[in-house]
Amino acid sequence: MSSANANEITIAVDPDVHLRQDEYDPRDWNSETTSIGSSIYRGIMENGRRYQSLKEDEYAFPADEQQFDTYDAVHLAAIVGDSAEENPLFHAPIEPKNVLDIGTGKGSWAVDVADMFPEAWVRGVDLFPPPVTWLPPNCVLEVDDVTQDWTWSQKFDLIHLRILACAFTPEETADIMKKCYDNLQPGGWIEQFEIHPNVYCDDASIAEDNVLYDIGPRCDAAANKSGKRMDLVKTMRDSIAKAGFVDIHEKATKWPIGPWPREKSKKELGSINLHHWLTGIEGYTMFLMTKFGDPEPWTQEEVRVYNAQMRKALLNPHHHPYQRTRRVWARKPFPEEEKARDEKEKEKKEKKEKVEAEAAAAAAAKQKSPEIKEEKE
Ligand SMILES: C[S@@+](CC[C@H](N)C(=O)[O-])C[C@H]1O[C@@H](n2cnc3c(N)ncnc32)[C@H](O)[C@@H]1O
Repeated sequence: MSSANANEITIAVDPDVHLRQDEYDPRDWNSETTSIGSSIYRGIMENGRRYQSLKEDEYAFPADEQQFDTYDAVHLAAIVGDSAEENPLFHAPIEPKNVLDIGTGKGSWAVDVADMFPEAWVRGVDLFPPPVTWLPPNCVLEVDDVTQDWTWSQKFDLIHLRILACAFTPEETADIMKKCYDNLQPGGWIEQFEIHPNVYCDDASIAEDNVLYDIGPRCDAAANKSGKRMDLVKTMRDSIAKAGFVDIHEKATKWPIGPWPREKSKKELGSINLHHWLTGIEGYTMFLMTKFGDPEPWTQEEVRVYNAQMRKALLNPHHHPYQRTRRVWARKPFPEEEKARDEKEKEKKEKKEKVEAEAAAAAAAKQKSPEIKEEKE
């Protein structure tokens, strides 16, 4: 097992950063490609956002141009954040031939992997049709619900999941991990990358009562109320281990929010991540807060006011916020490893049962002994 942890390195601040502090308009960020193909999709409009999926009203984040822009920003941030790596798309040590991307969204990761590995076949799956008009010939994006039975006939050698926070209940997560295990070839890899909206700061640049510190716990609480989990950064390693994967690796990093870091690559990452937050806050909070807000579900207007406060705090050039991300990758054991593990577990179980049986017998004998004495008397 290995663990590369960048969490404890403090990000150096650039003293010469100036951000625009006026009110943010998401249209400022729209690129001309974000609306490609969008007219073909059905969807439900709610609070000014479009939700479209097989499981209507069940997935917390919208599927519209603004949200796809947000996912693009995350995709770019993940690549920039890992630009020092030979392969910034995944860390599993494999030249994959048959890849599955669960909850592929716009499919950016699947498309990039297909381009990087032309010999591979890459399949992305999501609840809604992807907003793309062109795909590499070795990539396919499918509409399906991964909580249902999987019907793919061939086994994969890499299964990837990214930002599935709020998508599944803990039980569904356990079931999906088991399906990943069952649908991987022996020696195949699973890899998951997650981010969490908790905001941190290593200097005193953000006051303790700032709204930036509120969003993470608030989203966690709303997600828990909905029965789903937001804090997969904390739980995914355990979920992967519990499903039986071995050779577990992880990499934790800090993502600056804003161009405040001094170092160039972190500044770039921070700028992209700020774009992610500014385009994404509404999509990440609107459904959760209007349905599961605390203490009562919030109104649309209350969510908008909250988000305006958040954007103002994010655009304050004196603030040095960051969030934490985590990547976990692990291998499905080979049959001989599975056999050895099963034998070890059987041995352990038998040992435990023997100890318990002996303890029970001793307790029974102790209870019986006064009676024996009485009979003698
Ligand atoms: C936050 S998005 C991340 C998209 C993509 N992985 C990325 O990193 O850009 C999560 C995606 O999971 C999808 N999703 C949620 N529940 C799902 C399910 N039961 N089956 C398939 N996809 C699902 C959502 O529709 C959404 O597109």
